[in-house]
Amino acid sequence: MAARLTVDCLGLSFQNPVLVASGTFGYGDEYYDIMPFSRLGGLVTKTVTAAPRQGNPPPRVVETDSGMLNSIGLANVGLEVFIREKLPWIVQHAGGARVVVNFAGFSVDEFIGVGAGLAGCRGIDALEVNLGCPNVKAGSIHFGADPATVREVIAGLRGEVGLPLVAKLTPNVADIAALAEVAVEAGADALSLINTLPGMKIDVKKRKPALGMAFGGLSGPALRPVGVACVYKVYRRLQEMGAGVPVIGIGGIATGPDALEYILAGARLVQVGTASFVNPLAAGQVVAELAAWCENEGIGDLSELVGVAHHGGN
Ligand SMILES: Cc1cc2nc3c(=O)[nH]c(=O)nc-3n(C[C@H](O)[C@H](O)[C@H](O)COP(=O)(O)O)c2cc1C
Repeated sequence: MAARLTVDCLGLSFQNPVLVASGTFGYGDEYYDIMPFSRLGGLVTKTVTAAPRQGNPPPRVVETDSGMLNSIGLANVGLEVFIREKLPWIVQHAGGARVVVNFAGFSVDEFIGVGAGLAGCRGIDALEVNLGCPNVKAGSIHFGADPATVREVIAGLRGEVGLPLVAKLTPNVADIAALAEVAVEAGADALSLINTLPGMKIDVKKRKPALGMAFGGLSGPALRPVGVACVYKVYRRLQEMGAGVPVIGIGGIATGPDALEYILAGARLVQVGTASFVNPLAAGQVVAELAAWCENEGIGDLSELVGVAHHGGN
């Protein structure tokens, strides 16, 4: 019997638990010919901001051991063009995959304005709030690092937006479980974690940082143990709170077993990011490997495995 990969999450049915992560699949159009979205559980779009952004000076990506650093700087077409040109194409081609739109702001008001602008659009299944953005009014500390601004952004959005709200957390904080708790109390319907970790590579030949902005965000396999630990901690805190809020695991997933680590740690859905740069078919292969693993192990419904690592397995 083939395993059931469908997952209920956010009041929606996902055809499988594998989504592509924000910023690593663009607006989908460049991948579509080789990787039709119908194979995916969902697609998370590149962060959209109120105004279009060119992003940071190059070089903006560099390879590292077991990963990469990026300093893209939220380059995007801006809310207006996204709604007019990008979103309708994605919705039309989704083919059963859920459409999750990721967005950010540089102030609390901008977050709420962009969220409200998206909330009225046809075809969006959920919104993912990128809290890894600098808060310009607070001296550029990122929103996700401060419980008070996490609360303000999520509660403000909750008041304006009826769509399911996913708060995307960053690992660059002292206590990610405390932030998760704040986001849930403020009204988040799910938490996705993690975003990248700050890092730097020095070009020894040139004797200067390899990235134009010097610092970048680390992603890829090197990030996986950090992401798994964050999901494990947050899932446990949510259990203690008695909150039935789902967790979405992100960071270094390239294979079925990678995704399973997150699921066993407590993730209901997962996202594949950097792996799509190495192999554009990676997310589809993760789905196939999950199905094969379940069949081998006699697992009828993948959802049964969520959080099992907390109970010592069997
Ligand atoms: C080139 C690049 C661009 C990214 N852009 C965004 C973005 O716009 N918004 C966002 O929330 N996360 C962004 N991310 C973070 C990913 O969505 C993901 O959280 C992170 O890369 C960890 O997953 P991975 O190891 O599978 O790549 C970006 C990552 C990369 C590598």
